[in-house]
This record gives sequence, structure tokens and C-alpha cells, in this order.
Amino acid sequence: MKSKVTSVILACGMAVPPKIVTNHDLEKLVETSDKWIVERTGIKERHLLENGEVISSYAIKASKEAIERAGIKPEEIDLIICATLTPDYLMPSLAILIQRELGANKAGAFDLSATCSGFLYALSLADQYVKSNPERKVLVVGAEALSRKTNWQDRTTCVLFGDGAGAVVVTGDENGERGIVDFILGADGSNFHLLTLKGGGSAFPPFDERLPKEEYYIRMQGREVFKIATRAMEKVALDLLQRNNLKPEDIDIIIPHQANLRIIEYLRERLNLPMEKVFVNIDRYGNTSAASIPIAIYEAEREGKLQRDNLLLMVAFGGGFTFAGVLMRW
Ligand code: UT7
Repeated sequence: MKSKVTSVILACGMAVPPKIVTNHDLEKLVETSDKWIVERTGIKERHLLENGEVISSYAIKASKEAIERAGIKPEEIDLIICATLTPDYLMPSLAILIQRELGANKAGAFDLSATCSGFLYALSLADQYVKSNPERKVLVVGAEALSRKTNWQDRTTCVLFGDGAGAVVVTGDENGERGIVDFILGADGSNFHLLTLKGGGSAFPPFDERLPKEEYYIRMQGREVFKIATRAMEKVALDLLQRNNLKPEDIDIIIPHQANLRIIEYLRERLNLPMEKVFVNIDRYGNTSAASIPIAIYEAEREGKLQRDNLLLMVAFGGGFTFAGVLMRW
């Protein structure tokens, strides 16, 4: 009988810029306070690129670490998928810059745009790609420089975001005991206007004077987005569990997208899980969009909170809106 192939993560890597900006630093820029930011978001500090730095440096660093820890060579990689909203250039893609620097000569490479759910979208594609040939190796990267798309005079957004990158190497496992069990990808464009970055695309090319300057940055109606995010994250988590005949208590650890500690706490409450089962690092990184889940996976593993054979549930939500969940046996 043919054994079942699953896709496993061989190893992870992460990299963030060394520059740390605290809430107190932001108090000097906009009318805000450490107290407000901590109470409303859970964020205490974030890592941001210095002027002149590029996010590809960190995406490459995270990728090199993941490849090295996986014990493979860059030439063995078949595909590089980089989830990002903020590549160095529109062309070439960030994935191509990674491919070039690694010398991954055999690999196809492309960027994927699915906002904060991008890493889980990319991981799901990698899952399907290696299932058809378990020998294949896919580098999945989430890298984001939201600071470059932030209006530093808009207190409703500038306190939220951070920069960074995380990467994982995915391959097939013919034992079929560990790896990705199931995933859900979703989208709902009916409320897209609540979270946008309109300027700089082909509707409003750079310097197009028809568009107000603020529209060249991320704009968000936070309270409305918050309500949609909480409902969507809960639904994805419960749907994934239900269709795999699992109960919340079967989960060993949840790694949610780190957008707001209150959204994470809402999810924990709805699933009735203890806080020890929910990984949180938003206090140190803020919302790093597509990089948030791979950075969290890396840290959860390093801190011993994510261990071999654990049942792991990852859930994300982002602009568009997009949402995604991946269930896996680590
Ligand atoms: O990454 C995926 C997508 N993003 C999300 O999922 C984010 C979802 N939304 C949120 O996390 C929250 O809505 C925010 C953290 C963005 C905002 O928190 P909130 O509790 O929803 O605040 P609010 O927007 O309802 O604003 C409450 C008050 C307002 O003042 P008034 O109108 O009550 O006088 C704001 O002007 O807080 C004010 N405010 C601030 N005050 C100090 C907004 N931003 C700030 C700030 N510092 N940085």
C-alpha cells in the first residue's frame, strides 16, 4: 500500500533589524502614550529598518539560517515563495533577490501578496507542491518592511507595525505522521476599504497628484477591522478543528498572527484555552504582517513551547480581507 505523503517543516530562521523603537520613542513623534499602546495593542517595542537599509537583507539572513539548520544546500531548493507586501522593488521580486543571493540555481521564485495571511497562504502552496513529489524542497519566507509604508504622523497606524523576516524549509515526508494536516484559505473583499494602501499601484502610480498624500501609506479604520478580524480568526480556527474531528483542547499550541493582543485574547477565550497554549511575542515586534507567524514559530520552538509531535494551529487575518489557518503536527 502506498504511504501517505505529508509536508514537514525541516527548519526555521528569522532576522529582524537591530534598531528598536519603544513606545516612549513614539511619544515624541505623535500624541500617544506607552500606556495607551500597551493597553490597546499589547505592543511595547518594535524593530524597524534604519534609513537606507532594505528588507531583503533580513529575508536573506532568515533564509540562510533556515537552510543551514535544515542541513541542505541552496542548490537543492526547488521553489522560493516570499510572502510580502513590501518588497525592495516591484520588479524584480523579493523572492528573486533571495534566490540570487543564496545561489539557489535550480529554484523557481515568486512573491505572494496576501497581506498578513501571506505566510500561511505560501505554506499551503508549498504543502501542495511537495505532496506531488516528496523530494522537493520549498523555501517559504515572510518578510515585511511596513515602516516604509507607514505615515509617521498618523497615530492610529504608526504605533502598530514592525519590520522583520522569517523563513522555513518545507519538504515531503513519506511516513505521513507529522506535517501539515489541513488548511483553510479565505478572502472577502466586501470591506476592502477599511484597510488600504492605494498609492503606488497602477491605479495611482507614484506621485499621482489626484490621490491625497496620506493614501500613499497604510490607512486603517482600526475599530471596524478589529471586529472583522476577531470573527474571522475564530471561524477559521473552529472550522479547521471541526472538519478534522478535533476539539480546541486537542491543540497543543496556537500561533496566531500578531496584530493585537486583544484579538489574540479574544481567540483564546472563544476556544477556551489556557494562555500557556497561545504563543505571543507582539510585545517585542508589533505587527510584522506576513513575517509575524514565521518569526513566532521560530521563537516558540526556541523557547521550547513548540515541540516535536505537538498539534499546532496557526491562524491569520489581514487586509483585503484575507484569512487563513494551517493545522499541523510539528
Ligand atoms: O494585521 C491585520 C489587520 N489589523 C488588525 O487586525 C488591527 C485591528 N484593529 C486594532 O488592533 C485596533 O482597532 C487598534 C489598535 C488599531 C485601535 O484600538 P481601538 O481600541 O480600536 O481604538 P479606536 O480606534 O477605537 O480609538 C479609540 C480612541 C480614539 O479616540 P476618541 O475618538 O475615543 O477620542 C482614537 O483617536 O483612541 C484614540 N487613539 C489613540 N490614542 C492614543 C487612536 N490611536 C491612538 C494612539 N494613541 N496611538
